Amino acid sequence: MIYLNYAALSPTRVEVEQEVTATLNAFKPFLYSDAGIQWYLTKAMTCRQAVAQLLQVEDPATIAFVPNASTANHLILSMMEWQPNEVLCTSSHENPSILRELRRLASKGVEIQAIVPTTPPAFIDHLKRALSTGRVKAVLLSHVSHVDGRIFPIETISALARAHKIPLIVDGAQAVGHIPVDVQQLNGAVYFFTGHKWCEGPLGTGAVVIPDQFLELNPPFACWAKDHDKPPATLFEIGTHNIGLIAGLAKACTLKKSEGLHQDRLEGYRRDAKIRLKKCKGIQFMEWDGPHAPGILTLKGVPGTDLMKLAKFWADEHELIVKMFSDYPEGETPAIRLSWSATASKQTVQKALDMISGSLGHTLKRLPV
Ligand SMILES: Cc1ncc(COP(=O)(O)O)c(C=O)c1O
Repeated sequence: MIYLNYAALSPTRVEVEQEVTATLNAFKPFLYSDAGIQWYLTKAMTCRQAVAQLLQVEDPATIAFVPNASTANHLILSMMEWQPNEVLCTSSHENPSILRELRRLASKGVEIQAIVPTTPPAFIDHLKRALSTGRVKAVLLSHVSHVDGRIFPIETISALARAHKIPLIVDGAQAVGHIPVDVQQLNGAVYFFTGHKWCEGPLGTGAVVIPDQFLELNPPFACWAKDHDKPPATLFEIGTHNIGLIAGLAKACTLKKSEGLHQDRLEGYRRDAKIRLKKCKGIQFMEWDGPHAPGILTLKGVPGTDLMKLAKFWADEHELIVKMFSDYPEGETPAIRLSWSATASKQTVQKALDMISGSLGHTLKRLPV
């Protein structure tokens, strides 16, 4: 298999798998004894520190572990008390698992405004106009678009949200482990991410940062949190958790922090891919004039070519795995997302590009002029 779908799921690093096993073995003699509970709490706090370091979070106690990004999103939105006619601003590039939650809010009368990200200034202008109505209760936005890797101007947006005293909720699923993330810069934004994508952590891991400012903006949640003697963020850790997986995620974060994100290598793959694929007549890249994360390049519909059929052909005949966008985002389909990690070899990426450019050339030759 030639795998170019790292933005969906990355293989777990061996060191991370070893950490999961070692942690569970170390916990086994204690289990649910007083000593075991103490061991668990101490270990969990060490893990929060590791995540805090990668995300530049000042207080590790504001971090909660969750099984994935979608659960974090569900918990946050559920813990806010929504009224009909309140507005949630978002973008048209959000992930389907996030949109499902937004549809649930919409069914309760909440208005979802999904701004189409044409250019960064236009996006900001549109958001400013929405905020000026006084009806927006929260902004929910990806840090990096899962569609084409565009990086949203979340620092500017967080300042805007702060000025309007509304929470910004950032979906960092495509950002953490991929591009540098500095949650400290985000004026109290809630930030969640998933461990099994760019962090190369264990499957079914993630975390959410719940800063104190979020509590200030949500009095009902703050009241509820006050009744507990634990840091409010841990209220997001519902039920029994797998401390092995938590330790694995922490290890993955520590490795990313110490080894770096290999952005040059990823950028090199992206540059090569653009040079190679640009030569295919009719190919377009889905991009905006703002920044893009280096591990993702998305191809837009070549006129007259059935892109979806093509991607299926690549998978069936060449075992090349890419992500297809057939039904969203509106007006930008069909599209094919290529994504690579620094662990993908140059030969693998080259082989995939040879195959893609070869088959696109072939398809285009058969098109009527
Ligand atoms: C931007 C974004 N948000 C959320 C998700 C869902 O992540 P998870 O499966 O960890 O819930 C994805 C998955 O692709 C994503 O790309």
